[in-house]
Amino acid sequence: MNESLKVGVIGAGYLGKFHIENWKSIADAKLVGFYDPDQKNAIAVSDKYDLPCFESGEQLIDYCDVIDIAAPTDYHAYWCEKAIKKGKHVFVEKPLTASMEEARHIVELTRESGVRLQVGHVERFNPALLAVQDLDLHPMFIEVHRLAQFNPRGTEVSVILDLMIHDIDIILSIVKSGVKTISASGVAVLTDTPDIANVRIEFDNGCVANLTSSRISMKKMRKIRLFQKDAYIGIDFLEKKAEVIKLKEDADEKTFAFDIETPAGKKTIAIATPPIPSINAIQKELESFIGSIRNQTRPVVSEMDGLLAMEVAHQILEKIAQNAVGH
Ligand SMILES: NC(=O)c1ccc[n+]([C@@H]2O[C@H](COP(=O)([O-])OP(=O)(O)OC[C@H]3O[C@@H](n4cnc5c(N)ncnc54)[C@H](O)[C@@H]3O)[C@@H](O)[C@H]2O)c1
Repeated sequence: MNESLKVGVIGAGYLGKFHIENWKSIADAKLVGFYDPDQKNAIAVSDKYDLPCFESGEQLIDYCDVIDIAAPTDYHAYWCEKAIKKGKHVFVEKPLTASMEEARHIVELTRESGVRLQVGHVERFNPALLAVQDLDLHPMFIEVHRLAQFNPRGTEVSVILDLMIHDIDIILSIVKSGVKTISASGVAVLTDTPDIANVRIEFDNGCVANLTSSRISMKKMRKIRLFQKDAYIGIDFLEKKAEVIKLKEDADEKTFAFDIETPAGKKTIAIATPPIPSINAIQKELESFIGSIRNQTRPVVSEMDGLLAMEVAHQILEKIAQNAVGH
């Protein structure tokens, strides 16, 4: 039996604390400590979780097998590089890095060193998405809303890199086709970068995705709606619910169904609510990462997935900038 993998967390803020809590319950991983440069926070976290705070991130990296980076986005590349160069596996929060140049550099380093790197696109482990993952998803139109109330955390980057990147990653994982064209507009309302944006992505296979993200909304919403030839699939990431509406010959007992007349004759519309697995998404993503290290498999959200999501995000930001100049 192998010894448990020693894990250290860099950045114990809002999300880092959730990670600390979750690492404690993950088999095959032993949380050994954390690093946070904010002394006051470091003492409070150390006391609350009865966990050693290391004097420097470098010391923590030396001591661990796995480094979990939950520092602000503009420090992701710095800590990724330090950990990868010491041969340590890296879990890094989303987005992979703040700039494309940094993202390419980190992907290159990961490849050369052979370590595993997973990006924290935690919505891939949202139970509402997992509930529909075994369906044959081949959407031709996708409608996305991710609306949040304003919070200064995360505003070191635009709403595209902070919030929309979750949906970009999910859509790329479902559509599996090249991006043909992007049109986008966005407005910086409370910060220096776009706080609200609407984006249309057309894929090579004809699928169109329409995404709206806002971090200045009164109401919260995180929904993806998929429309395809034979079905509508609604995924509510916030309420953790899913709904599948299908045209069927016969509805089974578990579905609510009614008949409609169509030009092709009578059809049955069946509405099903797939069972939602009762899981904690953060726990599941960290567990999955440990599994990929142990089994030497590709992480569910690999460094390439992180890079691809960033490439699309940056194309969107360029389009928004072009539109702003045009006005
Ligand atoms: N996956 C998600 O859904 C999700 C949600 C929230 C945040 N995030 C990501 O997590 C990261 C952290 O966000 P947060 O909301 O926890 O921010 P936060 O500000 O609450 O926490 C950041 C922590 O990092 C520490 N820190 C500051 N500079 C540092 C440095 N140079 N090295 C190490 N630590 C440093 C701070 O003292 C603070 O405790 C961001 O990249 C953000 O995008 C992801």
